[in-house]
Amino acid sequence: MDRFSILHISDLHRSIANHISNDEIINSLMEDIDTCAKEGTPKPSFVVVSGDIILGSTQPQEDKAIDEIKKQYKEADELLNDLCKAFLSGNKERMIIVPGNHDVCHWISRRSMEMCSMPADETEKLNEMKEMIKSMDDENGTIRWSWEDFSFHKIVDLPLYNMRLNEFISFYNNFYEGQQIYKELREEQFTTHDFPEYGTTFVGFNSCYMLDHYNKTGRINRDCINRAIRNMRSSQFTNRLKIAVWHHNTSGHPHESDYMCSDILLPLVNAGFSIGLHGHKHISDIYNDYVQAGMDKKMTLISAGSLCAGEKQYRFAIPRMYNIIEKYGNRLYIKVRSSTHKEHLLWEKYRNIDYIPLPLISDDSIMDEDLLPLINARDYAGILDKLSRIDESRMRFRELWLECYFELIMFDEYSDLIGKPENDEAAVKLMTLAAKKQDRVLFDVTLENQIDAELITPSTLKIINEIGRGI
Ligand SMILES: [Fe+2]
Repeated sequence: MDRFSILHISDLHRSIANHISNDEIINSLMEDIDTCAKEGTPKPSFVVVSGDIILGSTQPQEDKAIDEIKKQYKEADELLNDLCKAFLSGNKERMIIVPGNHDVCHWISRRSMEMCSMPADETEKLNEMKEMIKSMDDENGTIRWSWEDFSFHKIVDLPLYNMRLNEFISFYNNFYEGQQIYKELREEQFTTHDFPEYGTTFVGFNSCYMLDHYNKTGRINRDCINRAIRNMRSSQFTNRLKIAVWHHNTSGHPHESDYMCSDILLPLVNAGFSIGLHGHKHISDIYNDYVQAGMDKKMTLISAGSLCAGEKQYRFAIPRMYNIIEKYGNRLYIKVRSSTHKEHLLWEKYRNIDYIPLPLISDDSIMDEDLLPLINARDYAGILDKLSRIDESRMRFRELWLECYFELIMFDEYSDLIGKPENDEAAVKLMTLAAKKQDRVLFDVTLENQIDAELITPSTLKIINEIGRGI
């Protein structure tokens, strides 16, 4: 099937205390997805839940904390069952769920660690500390630094430490009723979901490897990545659109460690995974295509905001959000929906992203058999001719129209179609095309009339001014 959509939700943070009920979530999503369907977006064939299923517990006693966590998972289980009935006709195989940092039980990781005793001698102590700091770079390292007591701690009971996702695993295995099994072994904590009829395979990863109450850094176990890639080498996966799902975002501020280094994804990119879906950041975003220098492969990273986190978990006043990702041929259309109301979920458009080109992944996944050879041959005049004879192509293939106008330096047509660019990349592209016309007046008029300084960053304005210098 060449056209389908994915309901991408994340960071549910389910808790009994959250006043947004399961019923309100389901009702509001059904209403909103009906609205999007009227605009032409197919109803979801898949639901991706990219982690932080529950909020977790801060109860001071372990038995009470576990009790609270179980109640949160029960709430989440009911929500996801209802979602599955509402959008997937009850077919749980079409739902892909991964854990997030809130699914890690801190009580278990606390019990598995001990504070490190340090030598009395200052020199020995310093040397020991240097060794410990060095060992913290090791991805499998068992030393942790605590800002709570300014001490090093060590994981002394690794089997116990490895049980910190057990409540998530119980929830997961109970939810899927045997259709999917979440493994306890950390090297096997990935799940494969193959849909030949859609030419698509999802692989869900645990990005909380060695993550605990002291270590916030996201990481996927190397063995999981390697085993998933090895599985993908089976002929059944040839030409599949490969989508990886995990929880953590892949960039952060210099002082942050609460994200996952994007280098972890390189083997997946190399193995042909072209889309990555994640959450954690509590904001919907489409990251630049992640490309390794020298490689012709890339991964488009799509982040979902928090669907229904409580108000305290909002970051920087970003509202609740979710994504509908439509795949149509080799293009993606992403509708980012948001709800700014504090008390209720009232979804509306936050941003529409018309397309992100995917690698041409297979012969049977083309959007139009006549159009594809023209795209591959970069025959832009031929593409324009073909597009002009396809119904609704200005809406469906807007970016392809723009690409052709850009390549053929058809400034007026490009400018008409794009209007006021909504982001930095589009603004730079419009002004680059204006510069190509080598017409100072045209450049200045375009800059004044079409570039909205509030929509783009100051550094982009600088880049645009640089572009205009040579005219
Ligand atoms: Fe998170």
